[in-house]
Amino acid sequence: MSKETKDYSKYFNGSYKILSEDENAKKIRIPGRDVQIISEPSYKQEKQRGKEETQIIYEQAIPEEMKDFGRIGGQKYYHIQTYGCQMNEHDTETMAGMFEEMGFIRVEDRTKADVILFNTCAIRENAEDKVFGELGHMKTLKLEKPDLILGVCGCMSQEESVVNRILQKHAHVDIIFGTHNIHRLPNLLKEAYYSKEMVVEVWSKEGDIIENLPKKREGMKAWVNIMYGCDKFCTYCIVPYTRGKERSRLPQDVIAEVRELARQGYMELTLLGQNVNAYGKDLEDMDYGFGDLLDEIRSIGIPRVRFTTSHPRDFDDRLIEVLAKRGNLVEHIHLPVQSGNTEILKRMSRKYSREHYLELVRKIKAAIPDVVLTTDIIVGFPGETEEQFQDTLSLVEEVKYDFAFSFIYSPRAGTPAAEMEDNVPMAVKKERLQRLNDLLNRYSKEGNEALRGEIVEVLVEGESKNNPDVLAGRTRTNKLIHFTGDKALTGQLVYVRVLEPQTWVLKGELVETPMKTVAHG
Ligand code: 5AD
Ligand code: SF4
Repeated sequence: MSKETKDYSKYFNGSYKILSEDENAKKIRIPGRDVQIISEPSYKQEKQRGKEETQIIYEQAIPEEMKDFGRIGGQKYYHIQTYGCQMNEHDTETMAGMFEEMGFIRVEDRTKADVILFNTCAIRENAEDKVFGELGHMKTLKLEKPDLILGVCGCMSQEESVVNRILQKHAHVDIIFGTHNIHRLPNLLKEAYYSKEMVVEVWSKEGDIIENLPKKREGMKAWVNIMYGCDKFCTYCIVPYTRGKERSRLPQDVIAEVRELARQGYMELTLLGQNVNAYGKDLEDMDYGFGDLLDEIRSIGIPRVRFTTSHPRDFDDRLIEVLAKRGNLVEHIHLPVQSGNTEILKRMSRKYSREHYLELVRKIKAAIPDVVLTTDIIVGFPGETEEQFQDTLSLVEEVKYDFAFSFIYSPRAGTPAAEMEDNVPMAVKKERLQRLNDLLNRYSKEGNEALRGEIVEVLVEGESKNNPDVLAGRTRTNKLIHFTGDKALTGQLVYVRVLEPQTWVLKGELVETPMKTVAHG
């Protein structure tokens, strides 16, 4: 954890003062605000690997004196706005769990909240722009409700440049904390509430594992972390800096959580990690990998088990062998490729070639012929030529993904790719994205079309967002399907015949009893 605090005076021309400094915190005065900096992010420290041992801390999350904090002086409400990936969604569930244990009640309307948290994403610039826009809007709310506590957490808080910008332009923020110290939320809340100072505590450590934090899950689907962090350091990606080193939870802790979720009746689990295929590599004296973990989870009574995200480099034969056993392991693999050109993959430091990736796809399809593959693709990486981009198109044609997330490359401060020369004009990047999306849509439509007339197993999620007369659900392969039925079916597995496959959604009709030929869908 960084105790060295930076010199912020250069941002505030004269109107900056150090009030006090000791080993616990530094207090500074900036225009309109006193700030308590307990620790702050450092790009330099976030790059380091292997110097710190991972500690597993079995935490009792809520300090005794905070257990009623949400009810002191009247009922208090919290609101968390979440950006980014499922890891963030799940962190939000943990923070919600902590708020509820402190006696707070969740509120959707943020103008009614006593505490608002922005759980942020740093993966691309537009994600950050959105948060800064929202923080700007919060100024008015803060003027109307001076006791409102406004917090920024998640990946953006781990960035030096973000903390600097908040200090300069958004001094109405009350708490900044990072991805490694979520469990410190109650303490930081207390500090900000009583001191009225802005409190900054961002640890740049490689990362520990905090067990036993409360979680407020919703619905019949649950996320379960199996590992944290990433050591891959793909040259475009900020995640290894914001989330720390790869560290696996112990198998017995994961299994205990999964058993408990099964006991509570959850219908679907998603195992989470930035690179789930590296699960177990850091567990000393244990020859135990992701395939072994899935093989154990397979025998636990939860109808569907998914996982995200895979890295092609660590996707081994043992894993394919276990996935081919199916059961509750669904026939859907999200396998980010990023580019179809070996030279670009090399410059991205993905550590596999086009051929290696295609060979892996071949092996997976041989073992699981009805598998649905989805992916992530970046276009316009620095220096990407038209020919190199065409390799991405031809790879998409070869694999025929059912769905893909496609992005224009976004430079991230502190990453190696941000230093690379980029001669691809934005107009060209946009045009490539359009061409790629046209192709991807074609295969999405084709993949759905193949299900016409088939009967698929569907987990009913509830009324469709746009039409309350229709139910929405997901197939085992995570395809969205709409059909007419009783709302009471929500949370159950049903069978639906696909009548009208479209690009983004399947439309079908409920069938009473499953037929002999059930497609996995
Ligand atoms: N620019 C564009 N896309 C990115 N991703 C990660 N970093 C960047 C970046 N700097 C994409 C990758 C990754 C997904 C989660 O986000 O495709 O798989
Ligand atoms: Fe980022 Fe690469 Fe790690 Fe994925 S594997 S989180 S893209 S560095």
